[in-house]
This record gives sequence, structure tokens and C-alpha cells, in this order.
Amino acid sequence: MPERQTATEGLREEHEWILKVSEALEVILDREPDHGLDFYALEECVSFIRLFADACHHGQEEDLLFPELEARGMPRDSGPLAVMLKEHEMGRSYVGHMLKALPDARGGDPGARQILVNSGRGYIELIRAHILKEDNVLFNFADQLVTGGACDRLCRDYGTVCRGVFEGRSKRDLEALAESLLERYGS
Ligand SMILES: [Fe+2]
Repeated sequence: MPERQTATEGLREEHEWILKVSEALEVILDREPDHGLDFYALEECVSFIRLFADACHHGQEEDLLFPELEARGMPRDSGPLAVMLKEHEMGRSYVGHMLKALPDARGGDPGARQILVNSGRGYIELIRAHILKEDNVLFNFADQLVTGGACDRLCRDYGTVCRGVFEGRSKRDLEALAESLLERYGS
């Protein structure tokens, strides 16, 4: 029995988590002028983005879905796949800046604080537009191109990634981390 019905169903569900945590991140950043920054929650957002959004989710896209689409004639170095890969890199760059700035920002360095806030806002803007494109364009192509046995195989391979451990945390641990963030900062 296939684990999923389409080549993108699980990835679309993961997008929902990523969007919700991005919303929580936005709430945290919006409260800054009056309440200061909740550095602990920001650290949790960065962990979620690095491990769930990038390692687990982008890992499935880059190592499984995109090669499947390439095998069906979609080029990797131009068009939608190239744009998606470039945006994944941009996201990594924003999150890398956040991770690097966190200790100094927590220590009161105003420059690091600015980098943290600007990179967080940059990430939110980027990931919303990125997910919109994947959900409405690329994934619709994928759903038409990858069907039947190929879809079943792909979904089994997604399952293998999703049962993995990301710096000591399971996918369920990371969803629980998101739930905890949403309890405090859900909009
Ligand atoms: Fe995605």
C-alpha cells in the first residue's frame, strides 16, 4: 500500500508547519519594540528551521523529488528547479546569519540584534513566497509527472527520511517543538 496518494502530499503538509512557525517567528519579532526579544524562542525557531524545514523537508525535495523531476525532463540548472534550489540557499544564508548573531544579540550587542531581526524578517518573506511557488506551480507539475509505482517509491523514500533523526531529534520531536512555539506565539 502506498503511504501517500500523491508525490507532494507529505511535503505540502510540512509546508503548513513551516508557515506556522514562520508566523510565530514574525510575532516574536513584532513584539520586539515593546517587549524585547525572546531569545530562547528565537533559538527554537532557528532549530526548527534548520532541522525540520531544511534538513528534513528540503532534504526530501533536493535528494528525492527534484531528481525524480529531472529524470522526467525538468532541468536542474534553469527554470523552476534552479529557482527553488537558489531560494533554499538563500534561506540557509538567512538562518545561518540568525544562528551566528544569536549569542552576541543575547549578550546585548545592538549590531548582532539588528542582524538577527533583519535576517528573521528576510527569512519569513522568502519562505512565504517560496512555498507559494512550490505549492501552486512546481508541486502541481510533480503531481502530474510522478504517479503510480514511481510515486509509491518516492513516498517510501520520503518515509525513510522522515523516520530519521536530526541532530538527536525525530520529526515528531520537531513538530512538538513547533506546537510549543505556537502555544506561546501562535497568531
Ligand atoms: Fe518545500
